Amino acid sequence: MAETLDSILAESRDRLRAAGIESAALDARHLISGLLGLSLAVLMVRGGEPISATNAQRIRAAVARRAAREPVYRILGEREFFGLRLKLSKETLEPRPDTETLVDCLIPHVRRVVARKGSCRIIDLGTGTGAICLALLDAVLEARGLGTDISEDALATALENAQRNGLAERFEALRSNWFEAVEGRFDVIVSNPPYIRSKVLEELEPEVRLHDPAAALDGGDDGLDAYRAIALHADRHLETDGVIGLEIGFDQKQAVTALFEAQGFRLRGSAKDLGGNDRVLVFKRDVECGDDR
Ligand SMILES: C[S@@+](CC[C@H](N)C(=O)[O-])C[C@H]1O[C@@H](n2cnc3c(N)ncnc32)[C@H](O)[C@@H]1O
Repeated sequence: MAETLDSILAESRDRLRAAGIESAALDARHLISGLLGLSLAVLMVRGGEPISATNAQRIRAAVARRAAREPVYRILGEREFFGLRLKLSKETLEPRPDTETLVDCLIPHVRRVVARKGSCRIIDLGTGTGAICLALLDAVLEARGLGTDISEDALATALENAQRNGLAERFEALRSNWFEAVEGRFDVIVSNPPYIRSKVLEELEPEVRLHDPAAALDGGDDGLDAYRAIALHADRHLETDGVIGLEIGFDQKQAVTALFEAQGFRLRGSAKDLGGNDRVLVFKRDVECGDDR
């Protein structure tokens, strides 16, 4: 009997379930929809249609990778973030939905700067796929962005993602160890730096531990190395009324706030992620007099 979309879907789900993948049914649907370029809705209504032997083979190969704990979007090679389709590569973190909270928090700041100055300069430290910066540029057409990273592979991917999403004219990439090679001042400094304590890395799920790059995760002994480096030089690169937006680990609000306060910044806002954890901090300069904000 000819194989159909429904039969390969059921086979894939069962294979993933047998491998102990909790989200087996969902993952099977996402894999097949991504591989065949069909939306989830189309996949459901066209379930009775036959599938070619070549496609069945591609799906089985992808399901085997997922059964070995490779994440769905790594297998597909791309993932959606804030409505943008972003290519992933070896040294880029897979952008997470929680990071969209940081973008949401910063869009009003970017719009305010544009209303006042006509444009807005953004720097995204540790840009990875370019996710945060590109999402901000896509949301505010007058903004321009610089994405920095220690990884050349990440920078090449971020540039490709800018191209793919029609944002290349407003996006530049620079290899830099945090602020080291950066010149000039920015209206918005944003970063989702590595913030996991080194010791905790080996306890992470295999999907993260084996497939996200260590340089994107490892925040040093206390998880705060990157925040320290950023806090130390932020003043030199922030415009007078600029803001700093940071993603943090769920238990780092106090520690990161203390680091930035020690460098003359004040916490002006914070936000929780979809799971109710502290996830975003927004700082401004702590101006003692003439502070009319
Ligand atoms: C948690 S990932 C965030 C990636 C992306 N911004 C996102 O939110 O999906 C951290 C990024 O910081 C980069 N990184 C690590 N150490 C760095 C350093 N010393 N200087 C600049 N970037 C660094 C990593 O390569 C990685 O792309």
